[in-house]
Amino acid sequence: MTYRSKILAGVALAAGVAFSGSAFAQTKEVQMLHWWTSGGEAAALNVLKQDLAKEGYGWKDVPVAGGGGDAAMTALKAMVAAGNYPTASQMLGYTVLDYAAAGVMGDLTDTAKKEGWDKAVPAALQKFSVYNGKWVAAPVNVHSVNWLWINKSVMDKIEGKQPKNFDEFVTLLDQAKKAGVIPLALGGQSWQEATMFDSIVLSTGGPEFYKKAMNDLDEASLKSPTMKKAFDNLARLKPYVDANFSGRDWNLATAMVIKGDALVQVMGDWAKGEFVAAKKEPGKDFLCYRFPGTEGSVVYNSDMFGMFNVGADRKAAQVALATATLSKSFQSAFNVVKGSVPARTDVPDTDFDACGKKGIADLKAANEKGTLFGSLAQGYGAPPAVANAYKDVVTKFVHDQIKTSDQAVAELVRAINDAK
Ligand code: GAL
Repeated sequence: MTYRSKILAGVALAAGVAFSGSAFAQTKEVQMLHWWTSGGEAAALNVLKQDLAKEGYGWKDVPVAGGGGDAAMTALKAMVAAGNYPTASQMLGYTVLDYAAAGVMGDLTDTAKKEGWDKAVPAALQKFSVYNGKWVAAPVNVHSVNWLWINKSVMDKIEGKQPKNFDEFVTLLDQAKKAGVIPLALGGQSWQEATMFDSIVLSTGGPEFYKKAMNDLDEASLKSPTMKKAFDNLARLKPYVDANFSGRDWNLATAMVIKGDALVQVMGDWAKGEFVAAKKEPGKDFLCYRFPGTEGSVVYNSDMFGMFNVGADRKAAQVALATATLSKSFQSAFNVVKGSVPARTDVPDTDFDACGKKGIADLKAANEKGTLFGSLAQGYGAPPAVANAYKDVVTKFVHDQIKTSDQAVAELVRAINDAK
């Protein structure tokens, strides 16, 4: 069995019986499934709702809370299996390809041609938004996960300086601990822990190792001493987390940094959306640094709006949504609020803050240098079954259900082999 059929067993069957488009659906309405329920995320989504409202399209919201989208993807699977297709759903990388392979995605190729998406959207994204030559998804943004988000006044108070490698990071966390501040704001949910571990693997092993282990799933790399060292490094961070970290939502961890209750969060740049929503400014209230030892590489994910094969009566709304999503003005306005960077390479960085400008420049440089890699935790390293196996092992290690780095490595290899 392939990865795809493992995750989507049942969906392909339902595709055969699904009537595409319901007679009851509102033609001038977009139904969108997503997991953007935090303050920053909701503010960003509002930009899109407003753009569509200007064109006379209503918005039927299907929010499913839970960062990283695990719960949303369970809800989507049930909807699609019942033949109840949303106009579009937020999706990450390999999930788009799964649904495309199941035969339930629509075809936006005409719109893409008219709007020149082929030229504007980088190849790293087209790999996931185009299936068998057809555009099946509209990329909204590019996020990257290898960032630190630091409270500036706490940093000043402890006289910290930017950590350039993993050891310096641990030293900085230690300084915060001695000053009585929670050093590391972590949300103890598997997707957050794995998102942080993506950065640790890159920092520990370097760009080539990251690619081999986390994108190529090369077994020798997965079971190497370098991977063991990455787990050792993850273990070194555990003493710097507060006692209440288990189960905490990511945006609450960000709020700890915003308020100065904690020094730093390791998180994708959707965290910046929370700082923006709280009216905080980079350089003044907070600092954004690349995760120590990962400068020069970008571990990315991109939110895509997967477009379902809706009936003719809903197609105009879907085309309006896709067109709005990839318009240059929306790509700037939305991503300024979201914390991400544009999914088009021809959007000026004028309206972005210092972190956004750095994000845009880093993405361009990494793309040119070949150091742009898919995030395994965020659906761009490998198909969902493998990503889920990875998240499971990382979280068990963080929560002491797997005791040693050696065991973690052995479990990782076993779980990924089972998932393949
Ligand atoms: C990611 C998604 C981001 C952000 C984050 C937290 O998977 O790509 O847009 O929303 O989850 O919810």
